[in-house]
Parts: sequence; C-alpha cells; structure tokens
Amino acid sequence: YKRITVKSLVDMKANKERISMLTSYDFTMAKIVDKAGIDVILVGDSASNVMAGHETTLPITLDHMIYHATNVVRAINRSLVVVDLPFGSYQSDPKEALRSAIRIMKESGAHAVKLEGGSEIKDSIKRILKAGIPVMGHLGLTPQSIYKFGTYTVRAKEEAEAEKLKEDALLLERLGCFALVLEKVPAKLAEEVAKSISIPVIGIGAGNGVDGQVLVIHDMLGMDHEFSPRFLRRYADLNTIMTKAIQDYNKDVKSGDFPNENEQY
Ligand code: KIV
Ligand code: NA
Repeated sequence: YKRITVKSLVDMKANKERISMLTSYDFTMAKIVDKAGIDVILVGDSASNVMAGHETTLPITLDHMIYHATNVVRAINRSLVVVDLPFGSYQSDPKEALRSAIRIMKESGAHAVKLEGGSEIKDSIKRILKAGIPVMGHLGLTPQSIYKFGTYTVRAKEEAEAEKLKEDALLLERLGCFALVLEKVPAKLAEEVAKSISIPVIGIGAGNGVDGQVLVIHDMLGMDHEFSPRFLRRYADLNTIMTKAIQDYNKDVKSGDFPNENEQY
C-alpha cells in the first residue's frame, strides 16, 4: 500500500477527493481501521472519555497519549497517524509545546500532532512546525476549553465568534498547518472556511461542505447507546452485539455447555 502523507492529504483536497478519518487508541482497533482504508487515524484525547471513562478530555496526560499512540503506530501500514497534544502539554509556552510534540514523535513513531486553538497558540504551532513536525489545527468546539464554553453545544453561531474562527483558519494555513479539524460549527460557516483555504478541513458536526469527515470510532460503531448527538451516524450497534455475545458466553459457562469436546485438549 502507498502510505498516506501530509502531502497526500493536501493533494486530495486539490483533486476534490474526500478524506476519511477515525480515531483509534489501541493496536487491534487501529489494525482494522488501517486495513479498511481510512486515510487518517487520530489518536484523539477523546481517549480520556472512551478509554479512561473521564467526563472531559482534560485529565489525560502526555504519557497516556504516548502509550495509546505507540500501540496504534505498531498496527499501521497505510494510514497517517495524528496524535492530540493533551491539555496542559502545550498551552503554557512554545518551548514546552515543542518538547511535548517531540516526545510524541520520538516515543510513539506517529506522523503528526494536533493542537486545539488559533491565534492564542500561534507561537507554539510555529515552534513545532519549525522542528519539522506536521501540525493539524482544531477550531470550533475545542473540548479542552469546555469549562470556558460551559456547554458542548454548537459553536460560532454568532458573528464575532464566526469571524474569529475564519481568521484563525487563515492563520493556521499561513503558519503551515497541513489540515485542520472543525468541530460542531454551522455547515454554512464550515463550507465557507473550507473554500477559503487550500489545506483540507476535516469536519465533525460541521456538515458536508468540508474536505473530509472524522468520528470517534466507539461512537460510530455504536458501543455506547447513551451518546447520540445529531452529527453522529451509527454504522453498527456493537453495544447490542457485544452484550448478546457476552450474555451467551456467560450462559454457556454457567450451564456447562462451554467448552465442549472439540474445545478441549
Ligand atoms: O479527540 C478526538 O477524538 C478529536 C476528534 C473528535 C476530532 O479531537
Ligand atoms: Na481531541
């Protein structure tokens, strides 16, 4: 297989080819996602929610992210692996941001990092890019700022926030980011942003006028029935499938049906 690079993604946008992206946090899942032909695997800090059970993405540490990323990278033949810099690992100063990005690249073997924010973290993005590390931006609903927003509702519905977002997208392109995620913003705004820049815009809850889509894999596989925002399309109901399989196993163990003669030595 031909490996996906940051260059391939920019070329895909130029050729109007849509980009597919999904999260993964472990070897087994990442192997399936890579083989299925997904272009970009995001080792998201959503691991804080779906792997560790935290309510927000804030508690996950750089060490935890590196652990997940390392396991994902071992499974990959084709996909580009992007890793979230977790909350607290890049906001205080550009040097710390660079140190965190270097640790991710060196210790996990991933191909790029993602940071949340625009002009506020401009110097950190510059510093990381100068070291030769590709950066993906993330604007709109940036979950590391959830306590500032106070809600997970759609962002940039008002003029001022929409203007800032458009400026930030241009800034990220100008700084040299290879792509950016737009999370939970009006579809019309997202399309406008995607048209205004030449780097790919990957949407989540940002409509169909962007250059690619991303979902959290546990969500699109239907592993948790309780999380169902409007933007989520469920491609399977693994929660029901897994629950049934586990109940059947439990029943067979209790009844003595498992293992049978062919399942022993
Ligand atoms: O952490 C994550 O999974 C993300 C995606 C939702 C874009 O940042
Ligand atoms: Na994230």
